[in-house]
Order: sequence, then structure tokens, then C-alpha cells
Amino acid sequence: MSDEAVDRSVAGRKLDHLRVLADDPGVERSQSGFDGINLTHRALPELHLDEIDPSVDFLGKPMRFPLLISSMTGGSGDAILKINQTLAEAAEACGVAMAVGSQRVMFANPVAGQSFDLRKFAPTAPLIGNIGAVQLRAGLTAQHCQDAVDVLQADGLYLHLNPLQEAVQPEGDRDFSGLAAAITDLVPQMSVPLLFKEVGSGLSAADIRLGLKAGVRHFDVAGRGGTSWSRIEYHRRADDADDLGLVFQDWGLTTVEALQDAQSVLPKDAVLIASGGIRNGIDMAKAIILGADVCGLAAPLLSAARQSTQATIDVICRLDREFRTAMFLLGCANCAALKNNTGLLR
Ligand SMILES: Cc1cc2nc3c(=O)[nH]c(=O)nc-3n(C[C@H](O)[C@H](O)[C@H](O)COP(=O)(O)O)c2cc1C
Repeated sequence: MSDEAVDRSVAGRKLDHLRVLADDPGVERSQSGFDGINLTHRALPELHLDEIDPSVDFLGKPMRFPLLISSMTGGSGDAILKINQTLAEAAEACGVAMAVGSQRVMFANPVAGQSFDLRKFAPTAPLIGNIGAVQLRAGLTAQHCQDAVDVLQADGLYLHLNPLQEAVQPEGDRDFSGLAAAITDLVPQMSVPLLFKEVGSGLSAADIRLGLKAGVRHFDVAGRGGTSWSRIEYHRRADDADDLGLVFQDWGLTTVEALQDAQSVLPKDAVLIASGGIRNGIDMAKAIILGADVCGLAAPLLSAARQSTQATIDVICRLDREFRTAMFLLGCANCAALKNNTGLLR
């Protein structure tokens, strides 16, 4: 395929995804596992609510509370450009982190690079780039990865691992062989940390072990239970009779299962990100009790981002308030008191 054709197909795919998300409420699976976890309420928390401190450091930068706007968009066209600008402005205003969607599109169409030139909107926020790991088997080089970091002045680069999405996608890349070796080669060539990420089916303990062996220290489980990419790609099937995406719509480890798997293999100095179906500040508190350092949300921020920066800030402020309230009611003054505190589980 020519670069121009790749650009058209990648950019068109992004718009298809946004359309499906808006049209099919069933893409949200509401099965991340957090609802099945009960916490121990403290009637005497011995804390002042206003003195709860949910701040954390992430990728060497301070955040007001442990929220990451997960990878969503990027590409050419005003709508996409505006969404990324809005998310970056909101991340900066609220003191949280932001990741961009796949940057593959900027190699086919340099104009799309503008949608990743976000440092001017978020001068201090942790920003994370994004590349599909499978592209390392299809001609993407370490220089491409570094270019993706440089355009964003990113603090880290996500390598997304999405074999289910690629298997269902009509034009998907199927060759996931030899990727661990390619990632091992890539890690020492990068100026910033590489982070592993699924897109909604979860990383397993075996995946994390391979990542650790390759030199990766940051893992975003992106588990099952929120946005189903298998179901989104089902809507883009080439043949009406093809129901693979529906059959696999609930495939994978729930976010809770993936966090538990990760805990069993991660060394203390590794960084764990929880995402996939996190929908409020209580889910965030549960994820941190299960060992996460930071929590990511994607789909719940999308419709606000299509409205305005203020609407996006409002959603983030709601999450912040919910998270602080949960910490207060658990008797935890800061995130260190919450993290891995399994005594809070019932
Ligand atoms: C509109 C949209 C676009 C996305 N695009 C990407 C992407 O380009 N790269 C990626 O790694 N993940 C992408 N994701 C996946 C999310 O980052 C996240 O892993 C997944 O949606 C689960 O989080 P959620 O349940 O909070 O939506 C996208 C998600 C949404 C909603």
C-alpha cells in the first residue's frame, strides 16, 4: 500500500471507531470486576477530608492525583486535532497525565504529526506517545519510535499490544511473531521509557515476564470490562456473516484479574497502570489497593473532549472528588497508604 493509501485507511479507521463508540452503547461492557470488590468503610477515619493528599509522581513528574487520560486519537483533520488539544489542555489544567492514540498515521502523512504536537498545550503534564508494537514487524524502526516521542516531547512511549483487535480488524496486522526480540532491541535505543499496554483484553503474567526480560519497567494492564475493541471492529467487518468480533467481545482478563496477575510477577520498582473499565473514583481506589500506581480512563473522557476543555475538566474534577472521598472513607491520607493495602479489602 502507498503511504497515501495507508494514511487514508488509518485516518478513516479512527473516524469509524469514533462513530461506532457514539452509536453502539454495547461497546461498553461494564465487567471490569471492580463492582465485585467490597472495601472496609471507616466510620472514624481520623482524617480531615480537606487534608487528603492524592498526589503522586509519574514518569518523573508530579501529578495532582493518579489519573491518566488513556490513548485515544491522533491524525489529520480538524475534529481529531481538536480532541487532542482539548485533552492536553484539560490534563494540564488538572495536573494529570495524557497519552495520545497510535502515531503510526504521522509516518504516512506528516501533516498528522500536528495532532501530536501537544507540549504547547500541556507544558508540565506527563505525556505519553503511542505505537502499535506489531508495527515493529512491518517496517517501523527505532528512529520512527524516537520521532513519535520527539514530536510530543513525550515522557514515555506506549507500545500497544492488541492481537485480538488486529485479528478481528479486516485490514489487521497478524504477525506477532518475534516481537519480544524486536522490543528487546528497541528498549536501549529510546530516550524515554517504553510502556507496555493492551487495549482492553489485559496483560497476563507471562506477557509481563516477557516485557521485564526485554527491559520494560512500566505496564498498563488495559484489561477487559470497559471498551471492547473486538466489538468495535465487529462493526467494521468486511462480510456481514463474519461474527468473530462479537464472539470475542468479552475475551481476556478483566482489569481486576490482570492487576492480580501483574502483582504476582512485578518487582517493587516497576510501575503498574490500571485501565480498562475504570469508571469512577471508587474504581480508582480499588485499583490502587490492588497495586496500581496510576489509573487510566479512555472512553468516558471522549464525549466531554468532543464538547470542550471545560467539559473535560469537569469530568476529571468529578473523578478527583470521588477518589478523595473514597480515600477519606478508607482512612487513607495519601496514595502510599492506599497502595497494596489489601487489609482494606473485604
Ligand atoms: C476512541 C478510542 C481510541 C483508542 N485508540 C487507541 C490507540 O490508538 N492506541 C491504544 O493503545 N489504545 C487506544 N484505545 C484504547 C484505550 O487506550 C484503552 O486501553 C481502552 O479503551 C480501555 O479503556 P476504557 O475502558 O476506559 O475505554 C482507544 C480507546 C478509545 C475509546
